[in-house]
Amino acid sequence: MKPRQQLLTLIFACLFVVSFAQTNTIINIKVDKPGAAIQPTMWGVFFEDINMGADGGIYAELVKNRSFEFYKPMMGWKVLGKPATEGDFLIHNRQQTNTANPRFLRVTLHDNANKSIGLNNEGFRGMGIKSGLRYDFSVTYHQLSAGNIKLHIELINEANENIGGTVVTTTATGNEWKKLTTSFNATATVQKAKINIWFEGDGIIDLDMVSLFPEDTWKKRPGGMRADMIQLLADMKPGFIRFPGGCIVEGHELATRYQWKKTIGPIEERQLIVNRWNTEFAHRPTPDYFQTFGLGFYEYFQLAEDIGAEPLPILNCGMACQFNTAELVPLDQLDPYIQDALDLIEFANGDVNSKWGKIRASMGHTASFNLKIIGVGNENWGPQYVERVQAFQKAIKAKYPDVKLVTSSGTDPNGGRFDFLNGELRKMKADIIDEHYYRKPEWFLQNASRYDNYDRNGPKIFAGEYAGHSDRAAATGNKKNNVHAAIAEAAFLTGLERNADVVVMASYAPLFAHIDAWQWAPDLIWADNLRSYGTVNYQVQKLYATNRGTNVVPALLNGKAVTGQDSLYTSAVIDKQTNEVTIKIVNSSGNNKTVTFGVEGVKKLATQASVTVLSGLPDQVNSLDSPFEVVPVSTTQIIKGKKIDVSLKPSSLTVIRIGLK
Ligand code: AHR
Repeated sequence: MKPRQQLLTLIFACLFVVSFAQTNTIINIKVDKPGAAIQPTMWGVFFEDINMGADGGIYAELVKNRSFEFYKPMMGWKVLGKPATEGDFLIHNRQQTNTANPRFLRVTLHDNANKSIGLNNEGFRGMGIKSGLRYDFSVTYHQLSAGNIKLHIELINEANENIGGTVVTTTATGNEWKKLTTSFNATATVQKAKINIWFEGDGIIDLDMVSLFPEDTWKKRPGGMRADMIQLLADMKPGFIRFPGGCIVEGHELATRYQWKKTIGPIEERQLIVNRWNTEFAHRPTPDYFQTFGLGFYEYFQLAEDIGAEPLPILNCGMACQFNTAELVPLDQLDPYIQDALDLIEFANGDVNSKWGKIRASMGHTASFNLKIIGVGNENWGPQYVERVQAFQKAIKAKYPDVKLVTSSGTDPNGGRFDFLNGELRKMKADIIDEHYYRKPEWFLQNASRYDNYDRNGPKIFAGEYAGHSDRAAATGNKKNNVHAAIAEAAFLTGLERNADVVVMASYAPLFAHIDAWQWAPDLIWADNLRSYGTVNYQVQKLYATNRGTNVVPALLNGKAVTGQDSLYTSAVIDKQTNEVTIKIVNSSGNNKTVTFGVEGVKKLATQASVTVLSGLPDQVNSLDSPFEVVPVSTTQIIKGKKIDVSLKPSSLTVIRIGLK
């Protein structure tokens, strides 16, 4: 190289170094300027019985259509063997004496030998059975005839081989119905097992509430919930749990709306209804989807308590789903709906001598569930919603002024319906407005500053349902729980956190989906009959919820909030209890980046930080077979002085936690 060329190369190299140094991103974190308090409720979960989330999901019952109350009473059941005469298996209806659970199955035997006649139940897409585990079988029965009848109960695998069972004997019960319980251990692990009940003997036996539960339910509660799925929730440390939805609150029509009073008390008295997701999507029909209410409001309150989350029940406002029948309760007939809300507060909080408090106590919970927030209406809209929710507001505030009300802003985060409701709800001084956004991942990136200009003195915001949808066209399998969507959500969440004075609650939706029975994707947690896993989106939610902090602090790039400059999104919080600062930063680009955080307003920082990184290729997903493909990885990094240089991976969320001194 000639000397002149060498000189030019040197000059270019110097310019490059200088310009690189100039573009090095420095974000200033001002820990001595604590802003809004972050509500303990900030990061929560939204539960709805969609995608077989309850029946066939977290509710651990393995027998489908246990009480023969589905539209087709024998759905899920098969008669084994050849009945000797017409009418040996008959569905009876005792509507006059039992309105909640009118049907039962009458079986007539003709001196049958074992394995000549029986029943088979297929479970919810099969039954997940674990080797060595105890299974608790029960049935209520009424035996008309004298003598003994034997029930041979057996679990079978996909090859029809016995994988555990037992034999029980019944005797005449007179006019009474009796409950029979028995337990046995399974001898194999099977993803899609079934149960057979073979009858041996002579006479007539009536059957109802045929049930099978595993021993290993959440907290080992008999008739309880699937422990693996609930553990995933508990691990998130959610600030609240919203239940029971979602559109099922509204119902396809008013008759199939969710009515909490029908979901409490003895399970055999809880009247089953069709699940509105049974028929909602023509391309994902689920004809066997019903709500048995084995999981009802008492169990949801108990779950909230178990996982340390505030309960947030949502009630019907006198309107059925406006995408379906849009039935309206006339205003002058709204009182029973409002009374349901008042009674629910008494059920949750009332003294054991109050009417509803007494019922709660009789179910096993004398202490109050300490209900503080209640929602009225899910995705309802229009002036009809406003006038109904106003009536609820008046009655609830008159009796329970401290209970906060969540109100609906409809289905979309913008547009005419949203603007109308937003205006009206603000005029009526709503406590909390529920906003929903199912949008493309890009929307989440573009809306990271959505709340920066919201009225600081108006209603609070509940980001009640959101998810990045890679394909908005329909609820199809194209909508993946991939890194691309999850990282866009993470970027958006920096905006919620930064605006914690306005946004007080947030939850991804829907929560659960069964791999063989879903209607809506994406979802936060997926399961089959034996396994469950958290999606990448779950990991994002969990990182936020487990790094909540107590107060927002400024995180500024050139004096401005970081809301997408150079594909970066940042928020920071301090935790006054642990005396730490936690910085969340998203790099939504496909490139590595380096950022320097300068922490101001503190004498010293701890000498090392914990740095947790969630990153992956945009299309990468977790799955049942590979549940930990994309999970957070934590390391420690040495800090010198009050600055920390952090390398940001492409498509990543990085959480940096540093002790303050
Ligand atoms: O989360 C699935 C559905 O999306 C909810 O039931 C409803 O509120 C929304 O439209």
